[in-house]
Amino acid sequence: MPDRETWATRLGFIAASIGSAVGLGNIWRFPFQTAENGGSAFLVVYLVAVLLIGLPALLAEFVIGRRANLNAIDAFDRLDRPNWKVVGAIGVLAGFWTLAYYSVVGGWVIRYVYGSATGAYFGGPEAYFDAIAEGPEAIALHFLFIATSAAIVAFGIEDGIERATKLMVPSIILLMVGLAAYAATLPGVGEGYAFFLSPDLSTIAANAGEVVPAAVGQALFSLSLGFSIMITYASYLGEDDNLALDGVSIAAFNTFVGVLAGFVVFPLLFAQGVEVGDAGTNAVFVSVASALSGLPFGRVLGVVFFGTVLIAALSSAISLLEAVTAYVVDNYRFGRVQTAVGIGTALFLAGVPSALSLDWLDWFDTVAGSLLLPLAVFGVVFFVGWVMTDEAIAEVRQGASGSGTLSVLWLWTVRTVVLLAVGGTVAVSLLELRAPPL
Ligand code: PHE
Repeated sequence: MPDRETWATRLGFIAASIGSAVGLGNIWRFPFQTAENGGSAFLVVYLVAVLLIGLPALLAEFVIGRRANLNAIDAFDRLDRPNWKVVGAIGVLAGFWTLAYYSVVGGWVIRYVYGSATGAYFGGPEAYFDAIAEGPEAIALHFLFIATSAAIVAFGIEDGIERATKLMVPSIILLMVGLAAYAATLPGVGEGYAFFLSPDLSTIAANAGEVVPAAVGQALFSLSLGFSIMITYASYLGEDDNLALDGVSIAAFNTFVGVLAGFVVFPLLFAQGVEVGDAGTNAVFVSVASALSGLPFGRVLGVVFFGTVLIAALSSAISLLEAVTAYVVDNYRFGRVQTAVGIGTALFLAGVPSALSLDWLDWFDTVAGSLLLPLAVFGVVFFVGWVMTDEAIAEVRQGASGSGTLSVLWLWTVRTVVLLAVGGTVAVSLLELRAPPL
């Protein structure tokens, strides 16, 4: 096997991981979910979910990846547990599956960047979305999005992903801060903030059975767990990195961008008296688009806003593609370029149904989110907590200073709290599965 690539710098690994974590979920789901489920009270629940479940699970993926220094499937072989390869395989499949439709959404975002420049959706955002979401143009832009992701991945870890995300992540943060600062000057700002963050304990108390699993699910998805991504990214790391510290920075930035997105979106909506609506596609492509239509300099703002969303989506897409690519590059004699082109083509084809019908897109999303992702996270957590055990502790200590107490605490958290919480999520989410819309 040729020498395996590595990150040039620790910052590169962190940037790539933040790039993966910060995505559409931070912008079109997190703020809306927070506002609907109790504002800052939900934020507290979410933070606890990140600290108690997301972060330990993130470390679990890191530990597997760095210990094995291999793609997420063969990693289990190298750790002498070949039967567990199925866990990595589910994750890689989840990544492929998700990217197939994520890329269609990425295509819409491209459409909205230039739709903002020309003001194309200003007359009627809802009708515009309906017109562009399905059909030949959606297919073409899906192609463009996947081709861009493949091009970055083809350049490799250091020259492709690291270089791109070191530019992309600071841009996302700067642009979001800029947008939030602008939004703070709008007349709707007080109302917007209040809608986003006023604490409402009664909603949580009344629906704890739904709110808590939703917070846990969002924490896992938002940290890109269960897609074999963090296993793959950590496999390009050296032994001297402090995994726990890296994990904390990644989780912190990810949450920060979600909160910032709320500070952007709600003032915009309230300034224009736009109905907030549901989280999801509607949130950005209809609600935010409506608000932008009415604002002075709406076109410029629209280009900046959707441009930011595009960068965030792209840096997530490359991580999904890399998890699949790494498996092929590690195993077969294809070069990176050929592999990225090949997988990109397969992804393009797999995404066509979603570009033709929102029902298909929705179904792909449900299968990924309700079946593949929870199963893969559950497998990873069980593996690290109950199979890898001492080796996991040794790996997490590698590169970290301090006494070992924290690492033992981490392992027990993974074994108990995280496992139960993820197990619960699997059970709840399996109920949402349904047949394809044939
Ligand atoms: N973490 C991304 C988000 O919050 C979603 C994502 C998951 C992206 C997995 C890539 C891989 O939007």
